[in-house]
Amino acid sequence: MTIAIDGFSSCGKSTLAKELANTLNYIYVDSGAMYRAVTLHLMNTGILKDGHFIQEQVIQELKDIEIQFVYNAEQKKSETYLNGVNIEKEIRTLAISKQVSAISAIGEVREKLVSIQQSFGVKGGVIMDGRDIGTVVFPKADVKLFMVAENDIRAERRYLELKEKGENLNLEEVKKSISRRDYLDMNRDISPLRKAADAIEIDNSELSEQDQLDLALQIIQDKKKALEVAN
Ligand code: DC
Repeated sequence: MTIAIDGFSSCGKSTLAKELANTLNYIYVDSGAMYRAVTLHLMNTGILKDGHFIQEQVIQELKDIEIQFVYNAEQKKSETYLNGVNIEKEIRTLAISKQVSAISAIGEVREKLVSIQQSFGVKGGVIMDGRDIGTVVFPKADVKLFMVAENDIRAERRYLELKEKGENLNLEEVKKSISRRDYLDMNRDISPLRKAADAIEIDNSELSEQDQLDLALQIIQDKKKALEVAN
């Protein structure tokens, strides 16, 4: 099966996707990491500076960007590589989060990444999370989940996550960054964040990770049965 998980920033999409992939023995693809990798590359090359860039230069640079996921057996998760270098840690900073939405709104960037994402799904057995997986990348996904959670809860989770990684921030700054990203992701012209008509919404504001995993597994199991009956 192909499983698409979409939703707002910091809604626990990747936590759920990773746990599902480990439980079901599926491949997990973090599509957000790919947009983050492009953003990091543009910052490293100076094309993206203080939020400013020339779109033509970004498009020109795309041919020099190669993104891979390599499974780290010790950590039991796949890590993102940019042109052969492990950038898993570097792409999770607030500096990248603040600039990634502008880069991900560029049509040519999306075209390149969507086509790579679709190639990951050819054989099935894939769980991918992002913003447009159920609507654009895999519109025929067997299971589509759409994650939501209350704003304050999301901000607190992200704040604690960043703090653990050593970023010195205040909660208000994280809250603002999340709201801004939601707004940009929902209001861009190309493939904006929206819930697919056939997606099942999971609000995890009050759910533990285990509850959330159990609920998603139940939804997947039900869908599997329905597909078996239909066939
Ligand atoms: O899931 P994330 O927070 O790591 O994603 C980072 C950004 O990448 C997000 O703010 C918007 C963009 N993105 C996107 O446009 N489409 C996707 N499928 C995944 C992420």
